[in-house]
Amino acid sequence: MATLIQGRPYEVSSSLLSRSSVDTWTIETRQPDRTEATSIPTQAECAAQPYDLVMGTLVNAATVDDAAGIAHVNVASWRQAYAHLLSPGFLARISEQDIANGFRRALELGRTVWVARVDDQIVGFAVAREPREENPPRDLELGLIYVLPGNHGSGLAQPLLDAAIGTAPCMLWVASDNPRAHAFYRRNGFSFDGATKIEDQWENMQTSRMIR
Ligand SMILES: CC(C)(COP(=O)(O)OP(=O)(O)OC[C@H]1O[C@@H](n2cnc3c(N)ncnc32)[C@H](O)[C@@H]1OP(=O)(O)O)[C@@H](O)C(=O)NCCC(=O)NCCS
Repeated sequence: MATLIQGRPYEVSSSLLSRSSVDTWTIETRQPDRTEATSIPTQAECAAQPYDLVMGTLVNAATVDDAAGIAHVNVASWRQAYAHLLSPGFLARISEQDIANGFRRALELGRTVWVARVDDQIVGFAVAREPREENPPRDLELGLIYVLPGNHGSGLAQPLLDAAIGTAPCMLWVASDNPRAHAFYRRNGFSFDGATKIEDQWENMQTSRMIR
């Protein structure tokens, strides 16, 4: 189990990185209201003062220079986690460069992406955001959490989730056939609320909503 060694206020992030298609990432424009949430650190503050060191893994906020490393984790994770759900051709067509460009734009706009590093290499990341759907059951969504397949079970997914959403009430969408992720989310207090949807941009993959 991961141990938090150095504490910082969790950022209940309004990082608004959204995917409108596999190779096109759009950035929504609303920023956290910093006059109302003065305890929320800026991205620069987070990057300058890593708040969490877990078993040799540093978790902190990414900088623009991290975009390529984040995209590498993202694409490698998709190809492994969804190999039983998506066609080889679809997975092969995903462009790591396009994904990196999307993350770079998001980071340039000051969005927060939490990254876990081992020996200066990014091995996982997480993003929280405001839900994009109408009438969401929670005001906060865990939008992305990915760990390189070789680092699954290492314990570093936990501080990533903690950094992104803390213990806040939250929602997320997950592939309906992704038992490992389901177990990880259940351990973090999430349960299915019955909502499902078909992701037409993802070869009609079914996803299910979890809340806590
Ligand atoms: C989801 C993810 C971030 C979790 O990180 P992780 O390091 O694998 O998480 P942990 O090892 O701490 O926890 C995994 C849990 O799944 C369980 N598990 C492992 N394999 C399993 C399987 N095939 N079926 C069911 N449960 C499984 C583990 O026992 C553990 O549960 P426990 O702590 O109750 O014993 C990581 O697996 C990942 O990046 N997956 C690919 C991308 C992905 O699916 N992201 C989520 C998108 S919504």
